Amino acid sequence: MKGKSPYIGVFIAVSLLLAVAASGCISTGTKEKVLVVGTSADFPPFEYKNASNGQITGFDISLIKLIAKKMGYDKVEVKDMDFDSLIPALQTGKVDVVIAGMTITQEREKVVDFSIPYWEADQAVLVRKDSGIKVSSVDDLKGKKIGVEKGTTGAIYVKKHLGNSSTIKEYPTYVAATEALLNGQVDAVVLDSPVAKMFSKKYSVEIVYTIKTGEHYGIAVKKGNKKLLDGINNALKGIMNSPEWNKLVEEYFGS
Ligand code: ARG
Repeated sequence: MKGKSPYIGVFIAVSLLLAVAASGCISTGTKEKVLVVGTSADFPPFEYKNASNGQITGFDISLIKLIAKKMGYDKVEVKDMDFDSLIPALQTGKVDVVIAGMTITQEREKVVDFSIPYWEADQAVLVRKDSGIKVSSVDDLKGKKIGVEKGTTGAIYVKKHLGNSSTIKEYPTYVAATEALLNGQVDAVVLDSPVAKMFSKKYSVEIVYTIKTGEHYGIAVKKGNKKLLDGINNALKGIMNSPEWNKLVEEYFGS
């Protein structure tokens, strides 16, 4: 009997420790409700890094924060990644939602679910100012070097229509594609019209043609996550029908 008592002491000590640990868990049971958001912060004014502090900001970021607040989340955590990593990140549960100026397409709808549309865009052809390049139809891009962002609707369009006749260079981000344009590695970049407009204000580039693709942006969730999608759609509808929407538009588009 005597020999066993130290073990009993250890047993009691361990039990006490476990009890303390468990109560610790219970007290943190009132954990913050966090919405993990995936984006690709190279797409002003929708998502970009603030030049002074590096913080990810933009129309989409403010919008998802408003939506999350309405849905009762305490916090939004933004994860920045390359555009073509966003859908895989949703599928593997690395992020709960994706907001990234993402066009609702039939192909993507096979693998994720989209909210109601919240924005419209076409594809713009951006060239260096003083390049002398004139474009009055997609055919005028034949034989040119064209930069696109990997995995985007712009990339898909250009590959489909010019894949046999032009050199297409795919970049991981629009920042890289725009740099390639500025330093002459490509003749043109094809990208969403609202973003091309922002780039033309910021860099020595101009829009010479717009391809009317008539795209609609949606917020994506993992396929089948109906509860989250319904919450997002309700909140989004509410915001789009309120003065909050115009405030957001004014803040990021200035009109
Ligand atoms: N709208 C285009 C698409 O869905 C481009 C989106 C790119 N977004 C970004 N954040 N880089 O393919």
